[in-house]
Amino acid sequence: MPQEGIVVRPATRFAGRLHVPGDKSISHRYALLAALAEGPSVLRGFAPGADAAATCACLRALGAEVRADGPTLTIIGRGPGGLCSPEGPLDAANSGTTARLIAGVVAGLPISATVVGDPSLSRRPMERVAAPLRRMGARVALREGRLPMSIEGGSLAGIDFAPDIPSAQVKSAVLLAGLQARGVTRVIEAVPTRNHTELALARFGAAVEAAPGLAAIEGGQRLRGIEASIPGDFSSAAFWLVAAAGVPGGRVTIDGVGLNPTRTALLGALRRAGAGVEVEADASEGGEEPAGRVTVRHRHIGDLVVRPDEVAGLIDELPALAALATFGGSVTVSGAAELRVKESDRIAALAAGLAALGGDVEERADGFTVRGGRPLRGGDADAAGDHRLAMAFAVAALGARSPSAIGGAGAVAISYPGFFETLASLTGLP
Ligand code: S3P
Repeated sequence: MPQEGIVVRPATRFAGRLHVPGDKSISHRYALLAALAEGPSVLRGFAPGADAAATCACLRALGAEVRADGPTLTIIGRGPGGLCSPEGPLDAANSGTTARLIAGVVAGLPISATVVGDPSLSRRPMERVAAPLRRMGARVALREGRLPMSIEGGSLAGIDFAPDIPSAQVKSAVLLAGLQARGVTRVIEAVPTRNHTELALARFGAAVEAAPGLAAIEGGQRLRGIEASIPGDFSSAAFWLVAAAGVPGGRVTIDGVGLNPTRTALLGALRRAGAGVEVEADASEGGEEPAGRVTVRHRHIGDLVVRPDEVAGLIDELPALAALATFGGSVTVSGAAELRVKESDRIAALAAGLAALGGDVEERADGFTVRGGRPLRGGDADAAGDHRLAMAFAVAALGARSPSAIGGAGAVAISYPGFFETLASLTGLP
């Protein structure tokens, strides 16, 4: 389907039961650790989008054997010594997680590499990851705080690191570097962020100390390859959960979706807004990522306030949540200045796109208010090259009075190829 500009029609129905593609955050981490481990890893349900593919391409450039067979990825790990300096730059494309986590991997190894990215990634801040890696002993050079990032790694020493900005990507880079460092590396977080790296390290056989706000690892541990099934990506499911909450009569069930509590704050927000939310967790073994089934039903939509302390738990779901306001009550978010340094300036581009659809949006330095209470007119919204904005505008457009065009809709391929086909099946509209 050509997806550069897509038309989304108002929906009178939104219903279905489905799986969403594999979790992107977990996929990046499992691929990186599989390449550092000894022995083969078989990763089922690997994320299909361009971001996870960028991590695989970087690993191949570092000498790893990575084979993709549909959604199953096989990586033959040869231990950290199996990776070497790449011949050319490591291209993280649009993926912040790739750039920051691969920086931690390279820093830990006696190799050098330069990480580059696309124009969006090249605008994003990298000093936050370079600074702790330098403290550990790596040589890291940036251009005005941004990519390209040149790294000479090896001979690191563990540090105690208390980041100023809550960031799972930075925490993960430091822990991945710490895996190869002398002594213990500790990350002490004032605001806990997603803990996929801590869980993944344990799954690959490392001893990790992990509690909300603390992650510690002793360097020099060996990892062993794993077989794993990656749960569906909660952040992709979020668009369907919000649409079901918003469209009158809407109902959706997502099976096999990741339910890691560091990622699911959206569910509490949807309940507060008035949606019916049911969660049924699958049985899981210790160290496995929690997963299960989520059902959301439309009831009514009231006003919703997202507090600053909730933001880390739904940072990637805020564009979807903003779309909820276009079906009913207002949505107010504060303490989310980080949105300005994502794939786009997600506060400015979200406000511009929703306003272009006829929404009433107030933009602030650290958040926004989308006032609900009147249906959108419909119009032309520009995704600004940002996958999550393309999907958020599509959800908002379901509640408009007339069809809307989403410019740059092809960006969905970053995390959710097939998004628009699934949207058509859930609305029953072509
Ligand atoms: C991610 C962490 C978050 C999130 C991003 C994925 C991860 O970024 O926004 O989409 O996989 O660690 P920060 O850690 O920079 O907040």
